[in-house]
Formats: sequence, structure tokens, C-alpha cells
Amino acid sequence: MVMASKALDRVLVLEMVRVTEAAAIAASKLIGRGDEKAADHAAVEAMREAFNGLDFDGTVVIGEGERDEAPMLYIGEKVGSGIGTGPKIDIALDPLEGTTITAKAGPNALAVLAIAEEGGLLNAPDVYMDKLAIGPGYEAGIVGLDRSPTENVKALAKAKGVEPDEIIACVLDRPRHEKLIAELRSLGCGIVLIPDGDVAGVIAVTNPDTTIDIYMGSGGAPEGVLAAAALKCVGGQFEGRLLFRNEDEKSRARRWGVTDFDRIYKLDDLVKGDAIFAATGVTDGSLLEGVKRRANGLMTTESVVMRASSGTVRWVKGEHRKTR
Ligand code: FBP
Repeated sequence: MVMASKALDRVLVLEMVRVTEAAAIAASKLIGRGDEKAADHAAVEAMREAFNGLDFDGTVVIGEGERDEAPMLYIGEKVGSGIGTGPKIDIALDPLEGTTITAKAGPNALAVLAIAEEGGLLNAPDVYMDKLAIGPGYEAGIVGLDRSPTENVKALAKAKGVEPDEIIACVLDRPRHEKLIAELRSLGCGIVLIPDGDVAGVIAVTNPDTTIDIYMGSGGAPEGVLAAAALKCVGGQFEGRLLFRNEDEKSRARRWGVTDFDRIYKLDDLVKGDAIFAATGVTDGSLLEGVKRRANGLMTTESVVMRASSGTVRWVKGEHRKTR
């Protein structure tokens, strides 16, 4: 049971939707235009502006990168109009999750964020994270990153009352996943290979309509914390383990307080206490419809906002008449 946070109470849940809507609308102008950087930039600027209109003392803990590499929404940046006076909120954000998807007009690009009380979100370094997720309704710990993909698929199949070859896994389509994919194929599993966008990929396990039972493989650690925040609200199991390719990545992680490089993070290690997760679709996807730019400046959006302490999930359809 997650206790409601007073600090989060003061930050209206629906305000978070306004923030992700602003980023998604800005990025939508660049859908299919082949320019990842411009799409990302538009989303970042719009999200930052929207945050700065909110009366809270926000700190970006997962953002666009470190201060020297990102001019806006960098890790550590303060946002909000209540700095020093308003409730202290930590923010994990990705104004455009799926820059390449957006540039190519592919599926599942999102504007996404999660907020928690100060200290509530893992300060994940920008390294890869091995991720494992299943939807709600299963006994805790039936799958784990300490077990092989085969063991996890078999355990999940047994719990679901199906054969292993009926399990559908979602995996990022990357050469580094060759071995994992071969192992899943040898079990006869169905594999939904996604080109990008593992926040939506992980969340897909919570929605039976996607038919995805399990998410496996590595992607960005910041995206892992964002997806974990969503699962903390809607239920489901998630584990993450940071992956380091070199000493530089390890030393960056040390700066964020990581000392145990083999640690398996559970949901409550990634997102402590109450949290709010919000996302707006940029392009159509398994979670949300994308922004539609219609005649005469009308734009429609679809968003979702959820809260861990109450488990409330709100689906928000927006009609916007002001063009950015
Ligand atoms: P961007 O929006 O930064 O392009 O990230 C998209 C994404 O696919 C994430 O969803 C995922 O976690 C990560 O990139 C995977 O990284 P890589 O492309 O290096 O495998």
C-alpha cells in the first residue's frame, strides 16, 4: 500500500497532462520530417515552459542529460515557479521518448514524465538497463533478472496456464538481443520486435489487448525508471539492472550514488512512495493515440495520467485550438 504524498497533492494531477500535452503537440509538428533533433528540441522547449508555469519547486532528476551536454531540462535543473516556496518535487522526464520514431512517423512515440516527492526516484545514470516486466495479477517474484529467459518464460507460462510457446514477449530490435531472441524462438514464443520506444513496450505488458505477456532486454536506464513509475501505478512487476560498458559509465554512475553495480532494482527501489506518471501520445501506439493536426488549427491529443497511492488511471482526450 502506497501512502498519498501531501507534496504531490498540491500539484494537480491533471497539470501533469498539460505538461505532456504541450511537449507532444510541439513535437507533432515534426512527425515524419526526418529531423530527430528538431523534434526533440521542440518537445523539450515546450515541456520546460509548461513546467515553469506550475507552482512547485521541481528538480529534474532524470532529464535530457548532464548539464554540460543538455542546455535545457538537464539533470539537476530547477523548474517550476515555486522554487524555494512550493512543494519539493523530483521529476523524471522524457519530452520525446522515440525521437527516431517521430522523425520516421513510426508508432509509440510519447511525451512522458513521472514525479515523486524529493528523493523518490532513482537518479539513474544514462546507461543501459536490463529490464524485465510482466503485467498485474501474478504472484510476486515469479520472474526475475536472476533467472534465465527460459526459466522466466516457463514460470510465467505455468502461472498463466498456457504453454511456453503461447507466451508473447516484447523486445527491442537490436543486435545486442540476438542471443535473447534466439532463446525465445527456441521456446516457440511470439516476439514483438519494436524499433524503439521501450517505455511503451514495458507498459504494454499491463494491457491485455496488446497480448504482450513479458518485456525483456536492455534499453535506456532513464526510460526504465519512467516505465517503472507507470507500473507502480497500474500494477505489474518490473526489475532493472544497470549495465555498464566501460569505466566511464561506472564513474558517472558513482556520481549519482550507485555503488553496487550488479544490483537488481525492484519497483520500490526505482520509485519510492507515491508517484504520478503522465504521458501523451505523439504518434499512434499501443498505449495512446498520437497528436492529430486537423483543419483550422484544431489538434486532438490522448493522454494518460496515473497515481500510485490511489491507483487511479485517467484517460484524457484533449481538443486544442491554439497552434504552437
Ligand atoms: P530516444 O527517444 O532517445 O531516441 O530513445 C528511444 C529508445 O528506443 C528508448 O525507448 C530505449 O530505451 C533506447 O532508445 C534504447 O537505446 P538504443 O537505441 O541505444 O538501443
